[in-house]
This record gives sequence, structure tokens and C-alpha cells, in this order.
Amino acid sequence: MKICKSIDGLRAVIKEGKVPLGLVPTMGSLHSGHISLIRKARSENKTVVASIFINPLQFESTDDLNLYPRSLENDLGILREECVDIAFTPPITEMYPRGFDTIVRLGLASRIFESQFRNGHFDGVSTVVCKLLSLTRADRAYFGQKDAQQGVIINKMNSDLNLGAEIIMMPTVRETDGLAISSRNVHLSPAERKAATILHKSLNLAESMGTKDAQTIKKGMQTMIETEPLARLEYISISDAFTLEEVEQLEKPALISLAVWVGKTRLIDNTTLK
Ligand code: PAJ
Repeated sequence: MKICKSIDGLRAVIKEGKVPLGLVPTMGSLHSGHISLIRKARSENKTVVASIFINPLQFESTDDLNLYPRSLENDLGILREECVDIAFTPPITEMYPRGFDTIVRLGLASRIFESQFRNGHFDGVSTVVCKLLSLTRADRAYFGQKDAQQGVIINKMNSDLNLGAEIIMMPTVRETDGLAISSRNVHLSPAERKAATILHKSLNLAESMGTKDAQTIKKGMQTMIETEPLARLEYISISDAFTLEEVEQLEKPALISLAVWVGKTRLIDNTTLK
């Protein structure tokens, strides 16, 4: 596996590699969710590039950025085991050199629910993913359904800006008790870790309610989440799975997403009702 820290170095290695090229963008602290994307990329491409870059543009506060878990040496070991060809691990100054002055902002990103709680987050995501797709010229790029809104935004940007990648969304990998695996789960105390299963339970409830009325589903989920004293609901959204517009009645594939604080950790999860 080649490790590239510079964009020029990455371009030179890619030039010598074979196509198709599959890209798996990550912020490191790799877990089985990331590994599922890497394996899929490995099975479909001649060259696999995995990036590890904790993107400061998508964090709202320096505290959150500083708290983000880091484990580069361990991550590189995992990438080697998974037969990744190229690990791209640029320093911040390589991605955002002095004078960097361009933001990729989607209209959609400023309209949707998650943005109301995470100011500028998706501008940071779309900017860095746009850079990664264009500098690797990836044929395919792999993302997780766990971050459903991120996936919709990246798909739209890829198509609006003719970046030419095929965007592949992979199902959410979960712990045996249903908790969606996330790098942030390490911040949970044992009691919070137990409480965190409430997100998945509330999504299961939504699926089993058998009603099409969004308000009724939201109310049912909210009541369940309120039974968990360590959990504080931030939002529940029921939207069209493709446009992310809120819906009142579930007619098309609908995306139910929620964000819940468990202690000081913000967790998100979602499910798509067909
Ligand atoms: P990160 O949180 O490291 O996630 C990298 C990729 O792994 C994303 O596509 C995410 O949706 C996927 N992923 C995370 N947990 C998963 C799980 N439990 N099951 C399946 N896939 C999972 O998302 C980001 O980084 C960043 O925003 C990034 C796209 C890299 C841009 O900086």
C-alpha cells in the first residue's frame, strides 16, 4: 500500500495505477462501517484509494474537532489488511493551503433539517468531497447510508458539477443490539452506550406502526425516546428520500432520520420506509 500525504504524490501514484478507481473518503478511526465500504470498493475496482482526513471545514467548533478520535497508525494497519492500494492522508495545509477561498455550497444543504442544527456542516462536506473526487478522478465513490443526508447532497453535487463518479451508498452497519456503528460511540459511558440503543428502537417502532401519518409516527418515536432519561431528542424528520423535503404523508420512499444527544455525544440514525 502506498501512503500519500501530498496531492502531487497522489496524482503521480494514481497515474501509474489501473482503472476503474474506487474512492472511500473517511475521517479515520476506522470501524466495521468503513470496512464495509472498503470491501465493496475492493470488489468492484482495480485501484482503491481510501482517504483519511479530519476535515476542519465540516466541524462547527474547535472543541468538537479536537475531540474527534484519531488513530492513524491503527487505521493504516486496517487499510493494509483490506488490500487498499493507496492511503491518502493529507495534512490540513495540503487540502486548504493559505489563501484557500472556495466553498461548494448546495442550495439543498441549507434547506434541510440537519443543517438547522449543524451550521455550515454540509458546506464543509461538499467542499472536501468535491476536492477528493476531482483530484482522484474516481470512477466510483462509496458512502454509508448512516449519513443519509450527506449521501443525497454528494449525489446532487456529483451530478450538478459533472464530477463523473458513480456514487454508491452502502447499508448502515450496526452492533448486535442495533446501535449504528460510529467513531463517536467511543465517547459513550457504559450507561450511555445502553441508552443509545433508543435511536434504533424508535426507528423499529416507526416501521412497525403501520400508519402513513408523519405526525403520528414522530409522536410515537418522541414518546419512546422520552422514556430514556439519558437521551435528549434534537429532531425527528420524515422526508422524501430523494429530495429531503419534509412530508406529511408517507407516499414515496420516505426517509425517517433523527438526532439524539446521549450525554455529550450527538448520535444520528435513519431508516428508509419503502
Ligand atoms: P466518516 O464519519 O469517517 O465516515 C466515512 C464514511 O463511512 C461515510 O460515507 C459514512 O457514511 C460511512 N459510515 C460511517 N458509519 C457507518 C456505518 N455504521 N455503516 C456504514 N457506513 C458508515 O462521513 C464522513 O466521514 C465525512 O463526512 C466525509 C464523507 C469523509 C467527508 O469529510
